[in-house]
Amino acid sequence: MREDVRNCVKAIRKITDFKPLVAITLGSGLGNYAQKIRTVCEIPYDTLPGFPMSTVSGHDGRFILGYVKKTPVICMKGRVHFYEGYSMDQVVMPLRVMQGLGAKILFLTNAAGGLNETFRVGDLSMITDHISVFTVNPLIGPNDDKEGPRFHDMTQAYDLKLQKLLEETAKRLKIDLKRGVYVQLTGPSFETSAEIRMLRLLGADMVGMSTAVEAIVARHMGMRVCGVSLITNMAAGISKELLSHDDVKRAGEEAEPRFVRLVTESVAAMGAHAAKRAAGKTAAGRKTKAAGSKR
Ligand code: HPA
Repeated sequence: MREDVRNCVKAIRKITDFKPLVAITLGSGLGNYAQKIRTVCEIPYDTLPGFPMSTVSGHDGRFILGYVKKTPVICMKGRVHFYEGYSMDQVVMPLRVMQGLGAKILFLTNAAGGLNETFRVGDLSMITDHISVFTVNPLIGPNDDKEGPRFHDMTQAYDLKLQKLLEETAKRLKIDLKRGVYVQLTGPSFETSAEIRMLRLLGADMVGMSTAVEAIVARHMGMRVCGVSLITNMAAGISKELLSHDDVKRAGEEAEPRFVRLVTESVAAMGAHAAKRAAGKTAAGRKTKAAGSKR
């Protein structure tokens, strides 16, 4: 574990021995979800040594550790962005801390502009894949082989089983869940109309300024990843309206009840699925041992 990450993990371990399974990041306008967590402990970022703090309005800054139904989670209320002037290494550092505390699944959420013309403002869209080539890769620099390989596979970055659980949950809750490819740009400017035409040609459905880099690092560390975008606006030139951060926050408030239900129920389903998988692995381990001892 890197020193900066280890220092934060140590500081948290002095306060709690809580072990999360799912790490949740909350996008712009979606921060209120944190109130739905049965909180065990809250850790303001400014109490952690060297932890990056957000400068954007609407971005609170603390970890919330607790339960969503029976699933232990750690939730990031507020995150920093590359456009704030942080290095990409700092941007993804909180994710490393959550993994360092034990999280095995990363549930990303973000606010995004809609590129797909079948989308509407307020839609929730599951991230099936991403395009991150317009931003800096967070793994540039020396590689720690104990953490993950120098060149890691990204063929199926968003876990198929978690996608299935999300879609099944949405169906059960009668929530219309779109699906699409998310493209991350650096921001902070919103895109021009020409850039949006280009991104559509490249196959992107949602555009935003976060999360793909977190998915890259999470996969490098062997975490399973899934994500949901809230379409807070149609991207530049698709709608005639000009874009503002206030619209992004407002759309978050409107979508909140649906978002809360979808995240809560799918995180619960993921917890149950992970427990079943772990039990299966233990049973398989016991069988192999027993077979070995017969020989
Ligand atoms: N572009 C980039 N990021 C965004 C947008 C957008 O249209 N909406 C919310 N985040």
